Amino acid sequence: MAKYRIEGGGRIGGELHMHGAKNAALPILAASLVPATPSVISNCPQLSDVDAACNILRCLGCTVIQQGPSVTIQPAADHGGEIPDNLMGEMRSSILFLGAVITRFGRARISYPGGCELGPRPIDMHISALRKMGAIIEEDHGYLDCRVDGRLTGCEISLPFPSVGATENVMIAASIAQGTTILHNAAREPEIVDLAGYLNACGAKVTIHSDSTVVVEGVESLTGAEYSVIPDRIATATYLCAAAITGGDLLLRGVCSGHLAAVLPVFEEMGCQLTTTRHSIRLKGPERLLPAAHIKTMPYPGFPTDAQAPFMAVACLADGNTIFVENIFESRYKQAGELIKMGAKIRLEGRVAVVEGVPSLHSASVRCTDLRGGAALVVAALAAEGSTLIQDVRHIDRGYERLEENLGRLGARIIRE
Ligand code: UD1
Repeated sequence: MAKYRIEGGGRIGGELHMHGAKNAALPILAASLVPATPSVISNCPQLSDVDAACNILRCLGCTVIQQGPSVTIQPAADHGGEIPDNLMGEMRSSILFLGAVITRFGRARISYPGGCELGPRPIDMHISALRKMGAIIEEDHGYLDCRVDGRLTGCEISLPFPSVGATENVMIAASIAQGTTILHNAAREPEIVDLAGYLNACGAKVTIHSDSTVVVEGVESLTGAEYSVIPDRIATATYLCAAAITGGDLLLRGVCSGHLAAVLPVFEEMGCQLTTTRHSIRLKGPERLLPAAHIKTMPYPGFPTDAQAPFMAVACLADGNTIFVENIFESRYKQAGELIKMGAKIRLEGRVAVVEGVPSLHSASVRCTDLRGGAALVVAALAAEGSTLIQDVRHIDRGYERLEENLGRLGARIIRE
Protein backbone atom coordinates (compact mmCIF):
# COMPACT_ATOMS: atom_id res chain seq x y z
CA MET A 1 0.00 0.00 0.00
CA ALA A 2 1.42 3.37 -1.04
CA LYS A 3 2.67 5.73 1.68
CA TYR A 4 3.96 9.28 1.89
CA ARG A 5 7.02 10.17 3.88
CA ILE A 6 7.01 13.91 4.61
CA GLU A 7 9.84 15.83 6.24
CA GLY A 8 8.12 18.82 7.83
CA GLY A 9 9.38 22.34 8.24
CA GLY A 10 9.74 23.70 4.69
CA ARG A 11 7.60 26.59 3.44
CA ILE A 12 5.17 25.98 0.57
CA GLY A 13 5.73 28.68 -2.02
CA GLY A 14 5.91 29.40 -5.73
CA GLU A 15 3.34 29.00 -8.47
CA LEU A 16 0.95 26.22 -9.43
CA HIS A 17 -1.73 25.82 -12.09
CA MET A 18 -4.87 24.20 -10.70
CA HIS A 19 -6.30 21.02 -12.21
CA GLY A 20 -9.93 20.41 -13.12
CA ALA A 21 -12.55 19.55 -10.52
CA LYS A 22 -13.11 15.88 -9.73
CA ASN A 23 -16.64 16.55 -8.55
CA ALA A 24 -17.51 18.30 -11.80
CA ALA A 25 -15.76 15.80 -14.10
CA LEU A 26 -17.49 12.72 -12.61
CA PRO A 27 -21.13 13.75 -13.24
CA ILE A 28 -20.19 15.14 -16.67
CA LEU A 29 -18.60 11.80 -17.59
CA ALA A 30 -21.74 9.99 -16.39
CA ALA A 31 -23.90 12.39 -18.43
CA SER A 32 -21.77 11.78 -21.54
CA LEU A 33 -23.49 8.39 -21.80
CA VAL A 34 -26.75 10.08 -22.85
CA PRO A 35 -25.89 11.96 -26.10
CA ALA A 36 -26.04 9.91 -29.29
CA THR A 37 -22.73 11.31 -30.63
CA PRO A 38 -19.22 11.66 -29.11
CA SER A 39 -18.24 14.22 -26.46
CA VAL A 40 -14.77 15.56 -25.72
CA ILE A 41 -14.26 16.64 -22.12
CA SER A 42 -11.15 18.72 -21.45
CA ASN A 43 -9.49 19.84 -18.21
CA CYS A 44 -10.44 16.47 -16.67
CA PRO A 45 -8.22 15.81 -13.65
CA GLN A 46 -6.03 12.71 -13.94
CA LEU A 47 -7.24 10.81 -10.89
CA SER A 48 -8.16 7.27 -9.94
CA ASP A 49 -11.84 8.27 -9.59
CA VAL A 50 -11.84 9.62 -13.15
CA ASP A 51 -10.22 6.35 -14.34
CA ALA A 52 -12.97 4.47 -12.49
CA ALA A 53 -15.67 6.55 -14.22
CA CYS A 54 -14.03 5.90 -17.62
CA ASN A 55 -13.95 2.17 -16.85
CA ILE A 56 -17.67 2.22 -16.04
CA LEU A 57 -18.33 3.93 -19.39
CA ARG A 58 -16.22 1.29 -21.16
CA CYS A 59 -18.04 -1.54 -19.46
CA LEU A 60 -21.31 0.07 -20.65
CA GLY A 61 -20.05 -0.31 -24.23
CA CYS A 62 -18.61 3.19 -24.82
CA THR A 63 -15.24 3.74 -26.45
CA VAL A 64 -13.30 6.03 -24.12
CA ILE A 65 -9.95 7.59 -25.02
CA GLN A 66 -8.04 9.32 -22.22
CA GLN A 67 -5.24 11.60 -23.42
CA GLY A 68 -3.91 13.55 -20.47
CA PRO A 69 -6.67 15.91 -19.33
CA SER A 70 -8.81 15.24 -22.42
CA VAL A 71 -11.36 12.41 -22.46
CA THR A 72 -13.28 11.44 -25.61
CA ILE A 73 -16.41 9.37 -25.14
CA GLN A 74 -17.96 7.56 -28.07
CA PRO A 75 -21.38 6.43 -26.86
CA ALA A 76 -22.64 2.87 -26.85
CA ALA A 77 -25.39 1.71 -29.19
CA ASP A 78 -27.16 -0.55 -26.72
CA HIS A 79 -26.33 -2.36 -23.51
CA GLY A 80 -28.02 -4.31 -20.75
CA GLY A 81 -27.25 -1.47 -18.33
CA GLU A 82 -25.42 -3.65 -15.81
CA ILE A 83 -22.43 -2.23 -13.93
CA PRO A 84 -20.33 -4.96 -12.26
CA ASP A 85 -19.86 -4.88 -8.50
CA ASN A 86 -16.12 -4.28 -8.62
CA LEU A 87 -16.60 -1.08 -10.64
CA MET A 88 -19.52 0.13 -8.51
CA GLY A 89 -17.46 -0.52 -5.39
CA GLU A 90 -14.54 1.61 -6.52
CA MET A 91 -16.24 4.91 -5.77
CA ARG A 92 -19.48 6.09 -4.27
CA SER A 93 -19.97 8.53 -7.12
CA SER A 94 -20.81 5.57 -9.35
CA ILE A 95 -24.42 6.19 -8.23
CA LEU A 96 -24.25 9.17 -10.60
CA PHE A 97 -24.48 6.68 -13.45
CA LEU A 98 -27.94 5.49 -12.39
CA GLY A 99 -29.94 8.29 -14.04
CA ALA A 100 -27.77 8.21 -17.17
CA VAL A 101 -27.95 4.42 -17.58
CA ILE A 102 -31.75 4.27 -17.18
CA THR A 103 -32.11 7.20 -19.57
CA ARG A 104 -29.79 5.72 -22.20
CA PHE A 105 -30.69 2.02 -22.08
CA GLY A 106 -34.13 1.96 -20.43
CA ARG A 107 -32.75 -0.34 -17.74
CA ALA A 108 -30.01 -0.56 -15.13
CA ARG A 109 -28.72 -3.15 -12.69
CA ILE A 110 -26.22 -1.95 -10.13
CA SER A 111 -25.11 -2.84 -6.64
CA TYR A 112 -25.05 -0.29 -3.85
CA PRO A 113 -22.09 2.04 -4.41
CA GLY A 114 -18.89 2.20 -2.33
CA GLY A 115 -16.68 5.20 -1.52
CA CYS A 116 -15.53 7.39 1.37
CA GLU A 117 -16.14 6.40 4.96
CA LEU A 118 -18.15 9.46 5.96
CA GLY A 119 -20.85 7.72 7.92
CA PRO A 120 -24.04 6.46 6.31
CA ARG A 121 -24.39 7.73 2.75
CA PRO A 122 -27.85 6.62 1.73
CA ILE A 123 -29.20 6.97 -1.82
CA ASP A 124 -32.91 7.21 -0.96
CA MET A 125 -33.26 10.69 -2.55
CA HIS A 126 -31.79 9.47 -5.84
CA ILE A 127 -34.17 6.50 -5.91
CA SER A 128 -37.35 8.32 -4.93
CA ALA A 129 -36.72 11.13 -7.45
CA LEU A 130 -36.13 8.68 -10.31
CA ARG A 131 -39.22 6.67 -9.24
CA LYS A 132 -41.26 9.84 -9.38
CA MET A 133 -40.07 10.29 -12.97
CA GLY A 134 -41.43 6.85 -13.86
CA ALA A 135 -38.48 4.52 -13.23
CA ILE A 136 -39.41 1.17 -11.72
CA ILE A 137 -36.71 0.42 -9.17
CA GLU A 138 -36.65 -2.81 -7.20
CA GLU A 139 -34.16 -3.71 -4.54
CA ASP A 140 -32.98 -7.31 -4.81
CA HIS A 141 -30.29 -8.78 -2.51
CA GLY A 142 -28.11 -5.66 -2.50
CA TYR A 143 -28.79 -4.85 -6.14
CA LEU A 144 -30.98 -2.17 -7.68
CA ASP A 145 -32.94 -3.43 -10.67
CA CYS A 146 -34.29 -0.50 -12.64
CA ARG A 147 -36.32 -0.14 -15.82
CA VAL A 148 -38.52 2.33 -17.57
CA ASP A 149 -41.17 1.74 -20.18
CA GLY A 150 -40.44 4.28 -22.90
CA ARG A 151 -39.10 7.62 -21.65
CA LEU A 152 -38.93 9.01 -18.16
CA THR A 153 -41.51 11.70 -17.47
CA GLY A 154 -40.82 15.23 -16.22
CA CYS A 155 -42.49 16.08 -12.92
CA GLU A 156 -42.17 18.28 -9.81
CA ILE A 157 -39.76 16.96 -7.16
CA SER A 158 -38.76 18.42 -3.78
CA LEU A 159 -35.57 17.15 -2.20
CA PRO A 160 -35.64 16.95 1.63
CA PHE A 161 -31.97 18.12 1.57
CA PRO A 162 -30.04 19.74 -1.30
CA SER A 163 -28.11 16.56 -2.16
CA VAL A 164 -25.45 17.20 -4.79
CA GLY A 165 -25.60 13.70 -6.28
CA ALA A 166 -29.41 13.45 -6.31
CA THR A 167 -29.63 16.86 -8.03
CA GLU A 168 -27.15 15.67 -10.67
CA ASN A 169 -28.98 12.38 -11.27
CA VAL A 170 -32.29 14.20 -11.74
CA MET A 171 -30.72 16.76 -14.10
CA ILE A 172 -29.24 14.01 -16.29
CA ALA A 173 -32.41 11.91 -16.29
CA ALA A 174 -34.66 14.92 -16.93
CA SER A 175 -32.60 16.17 -19.88
CA ILE A 176 -34.35 13.88 -22.37
CA ALA A 177 -37.45 13.04 -20.31
CA GLN A 178 -40.90 13.75 -21.68
CA GLY A 179 -42.01 17.16 -20.37
CA THR A 180 -40.55 19.53 -17.81
CA THR A 181 -38.96 18.62 -14.47
CA ILE A 182 -38.96 21.16 -11.67
CA LEU A 183 -36.58 20.26 -8.85
CA HIS A 184 -37.05 22.21 -5.61
CA ASN A 185 -34.42 22.50 -2.86
CA ALA A 186 -31.79 21.46 -5.38
CA ALA A 187 -28.06 21.74 -4.68
CA ARG A 188 -26.37 24.68 -6.43
CA GLU A 189 -22.68 23.94 -6.06
CA PRO A 190 -20.45 25.20 -8.92
CA GLU A 191 -20.18 21.56 -10.04
CA ILE A 192 -23.98 21.49 -10.55
CA VAL A 193 -23.71 24.62 -12.70
CA ASP A 194 -20.91 22.94 -14.66
CA LEU A 195 -23.04 19.84 -15.30
CA ALA A 196 -25.84 22.11 -16.54
CA GLY A 197 -23.26 23.81 -18.79
CA TYR A 198 -22.28 20.48 -20.34
CA LEU A 199 -25.88 19.26 -20.74
CA ASN A 200 -26.88 22.57 -22.36
CA ALA A 201 -23.86 22.39 -24.69
CA CYS A 202 -25.33 19.02 -25.75
CA GLY A 203 -28.70 20.65 -26.50
CA ALA A 204 -30.47 20.20 -23.15
CA LYS A 205 -32.57 22.97 -21.60
CA VAL A 206 -31.49 23.25 -17.97
CA THR A 207 -31.85 26.44 -15.93
CA ILE A 208 -30.71 26.94 -12.35
CA HIS A 209 -32.62 29.56 -10.39
CA SER A 210 -31.37 31.56 -7.41
CA ASP A 211 -34.13 30.09 -5.18
CA SER A 212 -32.47 26.62 -5.47
CA THR A 213 -34.91 25.43 -8.13
CA VAL A 214 -33.61 23.61 -11.19
CA VAL A 215 -35.91 23.52 -14.22
CA VAL A 216 -35.22 21.01 -16.99
CA GLU A 217 -37.32 21.07 -20.14
CA GLY A 218 -36.93 17.63 -21.66
CA VAL A 219 -35.75 17.51 -25.28
CA GLU A 220 -35.96 14.60 -27.76
CA SER A 221 -32.23 13.80 -27.78
CA LEU A 222 -28.78 15.21 -26.98
CA THR A 223 -25.80 15.66 -29.28
CA GLY A 224 -22.28 15.21 -27.88
CA ALA A 225 -20.26 18.37 -27.23
CA GLU A 226 -16.79 19.65 -26.41
CA TYR A 227 -16.68 20.94 -22.86
CA SER A 228 -14.03 22.10 -20.38
CA VAL A 229 -14.35 21.25 -16.67
CA ILE A 230 -14.10 24.02 -14.03
CA PRO A 231 -11.03 24.26 -11.74
CA ASP A 232 -11.06 22.24 -8.53
CA ARG A 233 -12.09 24.52 -5.66
CA ILE A 234 -11.35 21.91 -2.98
CA ALA A 235 -7.84 21.17 -4.27
CA THR A 236 -7.37 24.96 -4.44
CA ALA A 237 -8.38 25.31 -0.78
CA THR A 238 -6.08 22.42 0.18
CA TYR A 239 -2.98 23.92 -1.48
CA LEU A 240 -3.79 27.26 0.18
CA CYS A 241 -3.99 25.43 3.53
CA ALA A 242 -0.52 24.00 2.85
CA ALA A 243 0.85 27.51 2.27
CA ALA A 244 -1.01 28.95 5.28
CA ILE A 245 0.23 26.34 7.76
CA THR A 246 3.87 26.62 6.61
CA GLY A 247 3.97 30.43 6.47
CA GLY A 248 4.55 30.16 2.72
CA ASP A 249 3.81 32.42 -0.23
CA LEU A 250 1.85 30.61 -2.93
CA LEU A 251 0.32 31.80 -6.18
CA LEU A 252 -2.36 29.56 -7.66
CA ARG A 253 -3.35 30.18 -11.28
CA GLY A 254 -6.20 28.76 -13.31
CA VAL A 255 -8.56 28.85 -10.33
CA CYS A 256 -12.01 30.34 -10.01
CA SER A 257 -11.80 32.55 -6.91
CA GLY A 258 -15.55 33.28 -7.03
CA HIS A 259 -16.18 29.61 -6.09
CA LEU A 260 -14.24 30.11 -2.84
CA ALA A 261 -16.20 33.06 -1.45
CA ALA A 262 -16.97 31.23 1.81
CA VAL A 263 -13.42 29.92 2.21
CA LEU A 264 -11.12 32.86 1.46
CA PRO A 265 -12.35 35.08 4.35
CA VAL A 266 -11.45 32.26 6.78
CA PHE A 267 -7.82 32.40 5.62
CA GLU A 268 -7.87 36.17 6.26
CA GLU A 269 -9.39 35.62 9.70
CA MET A 270 -6.48 33.26 10.41
CA GLY A 271 -3.97 35.98 9.58
CA CYS A 272 -3.13 35.17 5.95
CA GLN A 273 -2.74 37.87 3.32
CA LEU A 274 -4.65 37.27 0.11
CA THR A 275 -4.43 38.88 -3.31
CA THR A 276 -7.09 37.61 -5.68
CA THR A 277 -8.15 38.12 -9.26
CA ARG A 278 -10.93 36.16 -10.97
CA HIS A 279 -8.53 33.38 -11.94
CA SER A 280 -5.64 33.61 -9.47
CA ILE A 281 -5.14 33.59 -5.72
CA ARG A 282 -1.94 34.50 -3.90
CA LEU A 283 -1.71 33.61 -0.22
CA LYS A 284 1.02 34.62 2.21
CA GLY A 285 0.88 32.77 5.50
CA PRO A 286 1.67 34.48 8.83
CA GLU A 287 4.48 33.50 11.22
CA ARG A 288 1.80 32.33 13.70
CA LEU A 289 -1.75 31.58 12.61
CA LEU A 290 -4.77 33.04 14.36
CA PRO A 291 -7.80 30.88 15.15
CA ALA A 292 -11.03 31.14 13.14
CA ALA A 293 -14.00 31.66 15.45
CA HIS A 294 -16.36 29.16 13.80
CA ILE A 295 -16.18 27.01 10.71
CA LYS A 296 -19.64 25.64 9.91
CA THR A 297 -20.06 23.46 6.86
CA MET A 298 -23.17 24.15 4.79
CA PRO A 299 -24.47 23.46 1.28
CA TYR A 300 -23.09 25.93 -1.29
CA PRO A 301 -22.69 28.89 -1.06
CA GLY A 302 -21.75 27.99 2.53
CA PHE A 303 -18.38 26.62 3.69
CA PRO A 304 -17.75 23.30 1.87
CA THR A 305 -17.63 20.13 3.93
CA ASP A 306 -14.78 18.91 1.70
CA ALA A 307 -12.53 21.75 2.92
CA GLN A 308 -13.28 21.10 6.60
CA ALA A 309 -10.52 18.52 7.16
CA PRO A 310 -7.61 20.50 5.62
CA PHE A 311 -8.72 23.56 7.64
CA MET A 312 -8.78 21.46 10.78
CA ALA A 313 -5.09 20.72 10.21
CA VAL A 314 -4.40 24.46 9.88
CA ALA A 315 -6.42 25.25 13.03
CA CYS A 316 -4.25 22.80 14.98
CA LEU A 317 -1.37 25.32 14.84
CA ALA A 318 -3.40 28.49 15.46
CA ASP A 319 -2.89 30.67 18.50
CA GLY A 320 -6.28 29.89 20.11
CA ASN A 321 -9.42 27.78 19.70
CA THR A 322 -11.35 27.09 16.48
CA ILE A 323 -14.80 25.49 16.61
CA PHE A 324 -15.95 23.33 13.71
CA VAL A 325 -19.58 22.35 13.11
CA GLU A 326 -20.08 19.67 10.45
CA ASN A 327 -23.61 19.95 9.07
CA ILE A 328 -23.39 17.77 5.95
CA PHE A 329 -22.03 14.36 6.97
CA GLU A 330 -22.47 12.53 10.27
CA SER A 331 -18.99 11.12 10.57
CA ARG A 332 -16.52 13.46 9.03
CA TYR A 333 -13.92 13.98 11.73
CA LYS A 334 -11.99 10.75 11.18
CA GLN A 335 -8.79 12.73 10.58
CA ALA A 336 -9.00 14.10 14.16
CA GLY A 337 -7.68 10.90 15.77
CA GLU A 338 -4.70 10.87 13.42
CA LEU A 339 -3.97 14.60 13.99
CA ILE A 340 -4.02 13.93 17.75
CA LYS A 341 -1.21 11.37 17.18
CA MET A 342 0.79 14.33 15.79
CA GLY A 343 0.26 16.38 18.95
CA ALA A 344 -2.98 18.20 18.05
CA LYS A 345 -5.53 19.00 20.76
CA ILE A 346 -9.01 18.22 19.42
CA ARG A 347 -12.23 17.45 21.33
CA LEU A 348 -15.14 15.90 19.46
CA GLU A 349 -18.73 16.29 20.58
CA GLY A 350 -21.03 14.88 17.89
CA ARG A 351 -21.11 17.31 15.00
CA VAL A 352 -18.85 19.76 16.85
CA ALA A 353 -15.04 19.68 17.03
CA VAL A 354 -13.09 22.05 19.25
CA VAL A 355 -9.51 22.51 18.11
CA GLU A 356 -7.21 24.05 20.68
CA GLY A 357 -4.23 25.41 18.77
CA VAL A 358 -0.77 24.20 19.88
CA PRO A 359 2.63 25.81 19.13
CA SER A 360 3.93 22.79 17.20
CA LEU A 361 3.00 19.38 15.79
CA HIS A 362 5.39 16.42 15.73
CA SER A 363 5.92 13.52 13.38
CA ALA A 364 4.00 10.25 13.73
CA SER A 365 2.88 7.24 11.74
CA VAL A 366 -0.66 8.02 10.61
CA ARG A 367 -3.22 6.55 8.22
CA CYS A 368 -5.57 8.15 5.68
CA THR A 369 -9.16 7.35 6.55
CA ASP A 370 -10.74 9.12 3.58
CA LEU A 371 -9.83 11.49 0.75
CA ARG A 372 -10.07 14.89 2.46
CA GLY A 373 -8.98 13.51 5.83
CA GLY A 374 -5.86 12.23 4.07
CA ALA A 375 -5.22 15.67 2.59
CA ALA A 376 -5.47 17.11 6.11
CA LEU A 377 -2.70 14.76 7.28
CA VAL A 378 -0.46 15.92 4.44
CA VAL A 379 -1.12 19.58 5.35
CA ALA A 380 -0.31 18.88 9.01
CA ALA A 381 2.82 16.84 8.17
CA LEU A 382 4.23 19.72 6.07
CA ALA A 383 4.37 21.83 9.21
CA ALA A 384 5.22 19.11 11.74
CA GLU A 385 8.66 18.62 13.24
CA GLY A 386 10.37 15.51 11.92
CA SER A 387 9.45 12.84 9.41
CA THR A 388 5.78 11.78 9.19
CA LEU A 389 4.69 8.54 7.57
CA ILE A 390 1.20 8.69 6.02
CA GLN A 391 -0.18 5.29 5.10
CA ASP A 392 -2.90 4.33 2.64
CA VAL A 393 -2.55 7.35 0.35
CA ARG A 394 -4.73 5.68 -2.30
CA HIS A 395 -7.55 7.76 -0.79
CA ILE A 396 -5.64 10.93 -1.68
CA ASP A 397 -5.04 9.71 -5.25
CA ARG A 398 -8.83 9.81 -5.77
CA GLY A 399 -8.90 13.60 -5.59
CA TYR A 400 -5.48 15.27 -5.99
CA GLU A 401 -3.58 15.09 -9.26
CA ARG A 402 0.18 14.45 -8.79
CA LEU A 403 0.07 15.80 -5.23
CA GLU A 404 3.58 14.80 -4.22
CA GLU A 405 5.09 16.09 -7.48
CA ASN A 406 3.31 19.46 -7.12
CA LEU A 407 4.14 19.87 -3.44
CA GLY A 408 7.74 18.84 -4.15
CA ARG A 409 8.05 21.62 -6.74
CA LEU A 410 6.60 24.04 -4.17
CA GLY A 411 9.29 23.23 -1.61
CA ALA A 412 7.93 20.23 0.30
CA ARG A 413 10.13 17.27 1.13
CA ILE A 414 7.70 14.50 0.24
CA ILE A 415 8.28 11.08 -1.24
CA ARG A 416 5.97 8.20 -2.12
CA GLU A 417 7.16 4.86 -0.74
C1 UD1 B 1 -20.96 15.26 -3.15
C2 UD1 B 1 -19.47 15.34 -3.38
C3 UD1 B 1 -18.74 15.24 -2.04
C4 UD1 B 1 -19.24 16.32 -1.09
C5 UD1 B 1 -20.75 16.27 -0.98
C6 UD1 B 1 -21.33 17.42 -0.18
C7 UD1 B 1 -19.17 14.42 -5.58
C8 UD1 B 1 -18.67 13.30 -6.42
N1 UD1 B 1 -19.08 14.25 -4.23
O1 UD1 B 1 -21.23 14.00 -2.56
O2 UD1 B 1 -17.34 15.41 -2.29
O3 UD1 B 1 -18.68 16.09 0.18
O4 UD1 B 1 -21.35 16.32 -2.30
O5 UD1 B 1 -20.96 18.64 -0.73
O6 UD1 B 1 -19.63 15.42 -6.09
N2 UD1 B 1 -28.08 11.99 1.54
C9 UD1 B 1 -29.15 11.22 1.90
N3 UD1 B 1 -29.82 10.54 0.92
C10 UD1 B 1 -29.47 10.61 -0.40
C11 UD1 B 1 -28.37 11.41 -0.76
C12 UD1 B 1 -27.68 12.09 0.24
O7 UD1 B 1 -29.51 11.13 3.06
O8 UD1 B 1 -30.13 9.97 -1.24
C13 UD1 B 1 -27.33 12.74 2.58
C14 UD1 B 1 -25.89 12.27 2.71
O9 UD1 B 1 -25.78 11.15 3.53
C15 UD1 B 1 -25.22 13.49 3.29
C16 UD1 B 1 -25.99 14.65 2.64
O10 UD1 B 1 -27.23 14.09 2.18
O11 UD1 B 1 -25.40 13.53 4.67
C17 UD1 B 1 -25.28 15.32 1.49
O12 UD1 B 1 -24.93 14.35 0.54
P1 UD1 B 1 -24.78 14.70 -1.00
O13 UD1 B 1 -24.92 16.17 -1.22
O14 UD1 B 1 -25.70 13.80 -1.77
O15 UD1 B 1 -23.29 14.28 -1.28
P2 UD1 B 1 -22.72 13.46 -2.50
O16 UD1 B 1 -23.43 13.82 -3.75
O17 UD1 B 1 -22.63 12.04 -2.11
